[in-house]
Amino acid sequence: MKRNSSAARPEEIAAAAQCIRAGLLVAFPTETVYGLGANALDPDAVARIYEAKKRPAASPLIVHVASIEQAKGLVSSWPEAAERLAQDFWPGPLTLVLPKTSAIPDIVTAGLPTVGVRMPDHPVAQALIREAGVPIAAPSANPFTRLSPTRPDHLDPELREAVAMVLEGGRARVGIESTVLSLTGARPVLLRPGAISQADLEARIGPVEEAGRPAGAHPAPGMHPRHYAPRTRLLVVRGGELPKAGRGAYLWRAQPGEAARTVRMPEGPGAYAATLYDILHRLDREGFDWIAVEEPPRGPEWSGVRDRLRRAAGGG
Ligand code: TXA
Ligand code: MG
Repeated sequence: MKRNSSAARPEEIAAAAQCIRAGLLVAFPTETVYGLGANALDPDAVARIYEAKKRPAASPLIVHVASIEQAKGLVSSWPEAAERLAQDFWPGPLTLVLPKTSAIPDIVTAGLPTVGVRMPDHPVAQALIREAGVPIAAPSANPFTRLSPTRPDHLDPELREAVAMVLEGGRARVGIESTVLSLTGARPVLLRPGAISQADLEARIGPVEEAGRPAGAHPAPGMHPRHYAPRTRLLVVRGGELPKAGRGAYLWRAQPGEAARTVRMPEGPGAYAATLYDILHRLDREGFDWIAVEEPPRGPEWSGVRDRLRRAAGGG
């Protein structure tokens, strides 16, 4: 493992693995965002995740594995598409939703017959899962509906109280949550866009459908319209059209605007995603009346970022 001062030491990882086996919660780094982990095979441990996050029980968790073999042991079917995608994108920011086996307690999947599995691309996460010897159920380590943490100092103080340990692993390289793809129906369905784009997926497995917007009173899992939001009012603007009233911050791209604070965002979608949550967490602590974000381009490689901004702005 590449060592630096901000990454957990082997003895800390060993202690955290012991905590996981003992049914406790551990916050740990992944390449997307920090996760709030528990033994996925232990329903009491998983119940602590929902409690700590104040997350509705209807919201299923992703199960993190250290190998393709381990993933196969948790699902009742492993189609050719899963094999291809896992070979090409794991470890990495892609979650595959597949029919679950009875090894996975119902509380992990919010009663659904399917489970989301992912092999994260972070040495600390991989070492933790390997040493724990069990798959680790983990949502993003933020209170429900709030912004996901991409650095340890983003962790909410109350969540810190609820975990046995926080493993450090520097800044999350990808910066937005994984792409979620369902392989349970006749056609693959993109449930959440992310760094691995629809085009990346289609190049490997053919046509992928986009999940529709939530319809009716009960949004589909993970499709709660308001999600990943800072406390400060966030709005997406075009051409620097900023609110007239109040003190705000403006995240601009091509043209700076008149705001109490202006932040120039990176040009490319990868670099943009990698810094977005960090910037929002910081601005959120400064008591602005609003945060205005210049709308990113429409290209498919921007769909993950656009999805998170739309949700942070409170839209469906
Ligand atoms: O990058 C990530 O995915 C991070 C890191 C920690 O791995 N985790 C994460 O977890 O974002 P969470 O709980 O914040 O989001 C999980 C997403 C939700 O949109 C959830 O609905 C979806 O995955 N999901 C999980 N299991 C599912 C299932 N069985 N069927 C449909 N969607 C599922
Ligand atoms: Mg989350």
